[in-house]
Amino acid sequence: MTSYKELGLVNTREMFAKAVKGGYAIPAFNFNTMEQMQAIVQAAVETKSPVIMQVSKGARNYANGTILRYMAQGAVEYAKELGCENPQIALHLDHGDSFEICKECIDNGFSSVMFDGSSLPYEENIAITKKVVEYAHKYDVTVEAELGVLAGVEDEVSSAESHYTRPEEVEDFSKRSGCDSLAISIGTSHGAYKFTPEQCTRDPKTGKLVPPPLAFDILHEIEKRIPGFPIVLHGSSSVPQDEVDTINKFGGKLPDAVGIPEEQLREASKSAVCKINIDSDSRLAMTAAIRQHLAENPGHFDPRQYLKPARENMKKMYVHKIVNVLGSDNKL
Ligand code: G3H
Ligand code: 13P
Ligand code: ZN
Repeated sequence: MTSYKELGLVNTREMFAKAVKGGYAIPAFNFNTMEQMQAIVQAAVETKSPVIMQVSKGARNYANGTILRYMAQGAVEYAKELGCENPQIALHLDHGDSFEICKECIDNGFSSVMFDGSSLPYEENIAITKKVVEYAHKYDVTVEAELGVLAGVEDEVSSAESHYTRPEEVEDFSKRSGCDSLAISIGTSHGAYKFTPEQCTRDPKTGKLVPPPLAFDILHEIEKRIPGFPIVLHGSSSVPQDEVDTINKFGGKLPDAVGIPEEQLREASKSAVCKINIDSDSRLAMTAAIRQHLAENPGHFDPRQYLKPARENMKKMYVHKIVNVLGSDNKL
């Protein structure tokens, strides 16, 4: 058993309480590589922001869970080396799909876990979330649960609506499961193609796709029913058009990629939404920089030559999110 406390990590309880009260959101950035980890830490230290570093199943398959755990421990030491005396870094399991994987992560130094039972029947979701909570709380690890299903690009907007979180369920769910935070579905979705062109309108000036707005009415109804309870938004990348354009200009093919407009995430951050998940934007920032660098420097073959601008571009994106979208800067 390795406690996250030995690694210098923190759970999410205090950061969420402050964020809800202060009207900002904590960034939850997925990481798979050393360059992402370095860029996240540099951005968090520079902006004096708490940060959640999260690990998906895909990340564990790609990089190995143990290595990622040691990278998170390294992140704390790196933050201190960069001059941050008291880094607030949580290591979070993203989309844990069983009690067993949550337990394994708790036993191995994670400070926060998500049990994603959103596709299960309601009572089963509560039962497994509760089991995870009972185990996690013994070790002061915090637990995120999910209610409502995130829309995928294959869904029609109309059918997506039926997957939205039902406000009338959140009080019962949060009380009976004992979860510390709740991921909800109000129209965000994972990946770089959050909406089909048919679900969007087109800006007549730029020709760019304009996605349908998030369901703020549902968010506000949820806030009314569980006042001050920490809410989480998954699938919250904005899919920046300049990165998409760079990728497409230098040989990529991402037609009609579209994300969540940043103004809407800014608005959500001011509510009880206190954790905003961003993965795809990091992928886009990395790929855009690498494609551009290799196209402009065809003789380069040392990975450090193209990973350095990739890391810088990701850091720029992380800083932008923290300062201009989530408002978690200067909170340490
Ligand atoms: O929630 C999904 C995250 O973007 C992680 O995706 O499983 O491909 O690493 P991944
Ligand atoms: P994006 O694909 O919008 O970055 O969402 C990431 C996420 O929700 C990870 O859990
Ligand atoms: Zn997610």
